[in-house]
Amino acid sequence: MAVGVFDSGLGGLTVLAALQERLPQVDFIYLGDNAHTPYGVRDADDIHHLTRGHVRTLWDMGCDLVILACNTASAAALRRMQEEGVPAGKRVLGVFVPLIEALTERQWGDNSPPREVAVRNVALFATPATVASRAFQRELAFRAIGVDVEAQACGGVVDAIEEGDMILAEALVRSHVEALLRKMPHPEAAVLGCTHYPLLEDVFQAALGPQVTVYSQPRLVAESLADYLARHPDIAGEGVPARYLTTGDARRVSDRATRFLRRQTQFEHI
Ligand code: DGL
Repeated sequence: MAVGVFDSGLGGLTVLAALQERLPQVDFIYLGDNAHTPYGVRDADDIHHLTRGHVRTLWDMGCDLVILACNTASAAALRRMQEEGVPAGKRVLGVFVPLIEALTERQWGDNSPPREVAVRNVALFATPATVASRAFQRELAFRAIGVDVEAQACGGVVDAIEEGDMILAEALVRSHVEALLRKMPHPEAAVLGCTHYPLLEDVFQAALGPQVTVYSQPRLVAESLADYLARHPDIAGEGVPARYLTTGDARRVSDRATRFLRRQTQFEHI
């Protein structure tokens, strides 16, 4: 058995890299739906349909736990999948909650009532579908009161990253940060609410300025999974070799992934 990691494309590799570093004893099977990326411009039904199918594939391959390393899928599909019911012994978790727990100074899994927290003004950068879902604000409201969130839908950034056009991606990030700062001139914290964006974390930080604390998911998700696996030791199971699966062109995806991860990464087409 292994832990499944799902993303619409390459972005979830930022989370996978942090998971592999934090949990070297755990095997991961990564599945990127590169044939259908980006998810961020699709409607919620479409995202739910695609995500559910790929999570089932990972469950059928023997992953008892699947991490949605994709905010768009977490925002548009996770709650609905959990409400529909998950097969016995299988789990699916998203990437929002660890981020919000960190932002609201909570221990992992602390479900006590919402309370005042230090941060008051938060800038959220995410895909159009994640922003439209308001899932981030909903999860935040369960844990904190009095926090003002200004969301910026970062159209085009995921496409540019998937195409490997980092110059365009950087220019788009700068213009999205400027647009956000016009609406909220002094955020104390900024959330990179898309797993593709950590590849451009330096560009976000430079455009926002050093006074803004940037919350990026990979490390937070890795810490939270380490805590989860310590509490559910059976779920990671026996070792299998790591695998990288894509619905897209395996050679093209392998080239991009090798560049992003800075190590040879071989994808198989499914
Ligand atoms: N990387 C994903 C996310 O975290 C999805 C991006 C997309 O496919 O639009 O939102």
